[in-house]
Parts: sequence; structure tokens; C-alpha cells
Amino acid sequence: DHTNADTLRTPIVAVLGHVDHGKTSLLDKIRGSAVSEGEAGAITQHIGATDIPLDTISGMAGELIDPTDFDLPGLLFIDTPGHHSFSTLRARGGALADIAVLVVDVNDGFQPQTEEAIDILRRTGTPFVVAANKVDTTPGWNPQEGEPIQRSLEAQSERAESMLNENLYEIIGQLSDAGFSADLYWRVQDFQKNIGVVPLSAITGEGVPDLLTVLMGLSQRFMKEEMAIDVYGAGEGTVLEVKDERGFGATIDTVVYDGVVRNGDQVVVGGQDEPIVTEIRALLQPRPLEEIRTEKKFEKVGEVGAAAGVKIAAPDLDRAMAGAPVRVVRDRPVDDVVEEVKAELAEIEVDTAEDGVVVKADTLGSLEAMANALREAEVPILRAEVGDIAPRDIAVAETANQDEHKAILGFNVDLLANAETELENADVKLFTDEVIYQLIEEYETYVEEKQR
Ligand code: GTP
Ligand code: MG
Repeated sequence: DHTNADTLRTPIVAVLGHVDHGKTSLLDKIRGSAVSEGEAGAITQHIGATDIPLDTISGMAGELIDPTDFDLPGLLFIDTPGHHSFSTLRARGGALADIAVLVVDVNDGFQPQTEEAIDILRRTGTPFVVAANKVDTTPGWNPQEGEPIQRSLEAQSERAESMLNENLYEIIGQLSDAGFSADLYWRVQDFQKNIGVVPLSAITGEGVPDLLTVLMGLSQRFMKEEMAIDVYGAGEGTVLEVKDERGFGATIDTVVYDGVVRNGDQVVVGGQDEPIVTEIRALLQPRPLEEIRTEKKFEKVGEVGAAAGVKIAAPDLDRAMAGAPVRVVRDRPVDDVVEEVKAELAEIEVDTAEDGVVVKADTLGSLEAMANALREAEVPILRAEVGDIAPRDIAVAETANQDEHKAILGFNVDLLANAETELENADVKLFTDEVIYQLIEEYETYVEEKQR
């Protein structure tokens, strides 16, 4: 009987933060240390994610972790694709990530994308820790490769330590301004009430054992119930990115957070116009490193169970949306699943008005965040969609009644090449930015100047 095979799945960890604060370096370091632990076979590179099993984590965390304290299988780290504000990705109405690491450069402190990430974490109620990164850039720092942070602090001069502390307290103050009570993680008793700050370096690896320990502890303590899944259940996931791949056409990079997805499964995927009903032609994973020189980038697999990142190839995926739900049909009427997907998309639908601006964003989640911010700024929306800026968006923007509404606000999107001349010839103003509030400010400044 396969109906009740409850198992604990791997928690999904998002790494967020301002540009250049060290998200990618931190993931590289975690992967790299896992490899040098001699556990390379144990880490699996997924599409858009890296799975680090508990044994490997406890190997890296050394004295800080007793693996018998944990029964979760490890951690699935999601790699942020470029500038995508993928922290806004959702799963069944909640956040896709179970926990998050907010990376903050100790020297720079809070920056616009840090603020934005914090807003999203607050709105989605996602538990998080702060990685106060780049401690090794403190003047006079004496690096302690891969050591727990307390060990490293013991090796520092008083001057270096006090300079670091100054920066750390600055960040703790900024967290408090943002409404979160926070402290250095070793002083935190209750991680539900206080945010732990972990000083570390993604380059030297000091403090990384501490981060892994705090993440395991957090997931174990607060996530256990949510991690119980039916491993044989119909797979559920979220689209991270829609990508064209040679030989496969449009594919969807997907994070599977429940059940199992099998090759040949019928699936329903949220699309630009309506849910797409299709059948999986291939499930693709990256080839292991040693085989990377072969011509094919991907390896076909028969099935993937949650939590995992996988590329799904199937017909008709070109209108799939980043951030949209993916549901395996299996044993249910397909119409029920289509209704489920519609209902989930309806939750995110944006209120539009007769007159207003055109909004384009990279994912459903970021579109929703844009819509919320515009509502607060009392800017009406004529049309809001996921995707790059196309000629028809310009045509729609031109139909706005008020001059100030003849505008397109693009968040994390590009202007398609075939829309460039159209834009030049149209009486439409284009604003693009990678930070929502800056984008809205730019638009508001434009409107103010126009009204003068
Ligand atoms: P985006 O993906 O562009 O948002 O940046 P990111 O947050 O992924 O930052 P990334 O890891 O690319 O790091 C940016 C720069 O900071 C690189 O030159 C890194 O080598 C450097 N860097 C990251 N972490 C550290 C650190 O702990 N110490 C030092 N000295 N440099 C670091
Ligand atoms: Mg990066």
C-alpha cells in the first residue's frame, strides 16, 4: 500500500541578498567544502539547486553538530538565478523556501535589495538567519580557513575584533529598524523570536560551519511537520525559469516540493493565458561533473521526488510562467487539477483599472510584489503580466487615457529587440529597475515633473 508513505523531505533554503554581497560565493564555498570533505559523491547538483545531505553537513560543521540530533535528510539550497527576485516564488499560497539565508556584506550593511528581501521575508513569514559576510575584509584580519567563528575570533587582534563588532552591531541595529529583534546567533535562545546573525566569510569559510548548524537547527525545530510528505503522492512544484534548450524546445526549471514527478506524467502548468495541460517528455538533471565534457549537458532521469530541482521538457511550455504552479495529474480528473491551478493563480491576480500603467515582471511573485507596492503608492494598473516587454505592451500602454499613465514599469525584465523601434515611435515612457521601490520612485518623480 503506497498511500501513506510519509517521509521527511529536505527543507528548501533560499539564499538572498543585495548584489555582490556574496550569495553565489557562499553556495560555492558550501559545495567546495563538501567536496573537500571527501563527500563529493554525496552532494547532488540539481537544476537550479544543490542538495547537501545531513552527513556531509555534519562533516563540515564538525564539533558543532551531532547528527543524531537530526532526522531531516539535509538541506536543498536554491541558487538565485542572476537578478531574479526569486525569493518571491510561491508554493501553494506560501513561500517556496522553507527557510532563508539573508546575506549582508558586513562593510556595506543594509542596501536596497536587502530591504526588499526583508520585506518579502516578513510578508511570507519565512524564518531566516543573517549571514554577515566578508568578515575576512576587516582590517588586520587573521584568516582561519573553515573554522567555526568563535575559534576564528580567538585568533583575532582586539582591534580587528572590535572593528568587526562595530559592523555587526550596525547590522543588528538595521534589523531592529526593520522590525526584527536580532542578535549574534550564539546569544539567541529562541530563534522564533529573534533573528540569529552569523558572522562568516564565503571566501575563507570561517563561520560557514556555524551557518550550517543554525540552518539545520532552525529547520529541525520549526519545519518538521511541514516536511512530512507522501513520497508517492502526485508531484507538486513551482516554475523557477522557462528556458529554451536545444533539442527540447521550451523547458521549465522546476522546484518540486511535494510528492514525485515521473517521466510520462500528465502535468498542469500555470501559463500566460490559461493552465497548460501537457505530458512530460523528459526529466533532466545536470550531468555529474566528471562527464560534463560530453556533448549533452543533461542526463535523463525516470523520476524525481521532493525536494528537488529538475528541468521538465514537454510540449507547449513556451507560455509557462516563472513562479507558476506545476501539478502532476495522476489518479485524478485532469479538470480538477486545472481548477486547482486556476485557483492558485487567481490568488495572485492583480486588480486592474480602466486607466493606469502597464506592469511587466519576471515572475508571478515579483508581479504580485509590484502590484502591492503600486497599490500603496496609489498608482493604478491597466495591465500586469509576467514576461519581457513586447510590442503589444507598448500598444496597450498607448491606449491609457491620462498622459502620465502612458508608461510601462518593468521589473527584472528586458525590452525585446522587436519592441525597440516601436517604443521609439510611441508616446510611451519605459521605466526598468531591479529594485521595486526604486522603480516606483523613478515613476513618481517622472509624474511629479510632468505635473509641474
Ligand atoms: P550577484 O549574484 O551579482 O547578486 O552577487 P552575489 O551576491 O552572488 O555575490 P558574489 O558571490 O558574486 O560575490 C561578489 C564579490 O564579492 C566577488 O568578487 C566575491 O569574490 C566577493 N566576495 C564574496 N564573499 C566574500 C567574502 O566573504 N570575502 C571576500 N573578501 N570577498 C567576498
Ligand atoms: Mg550571484
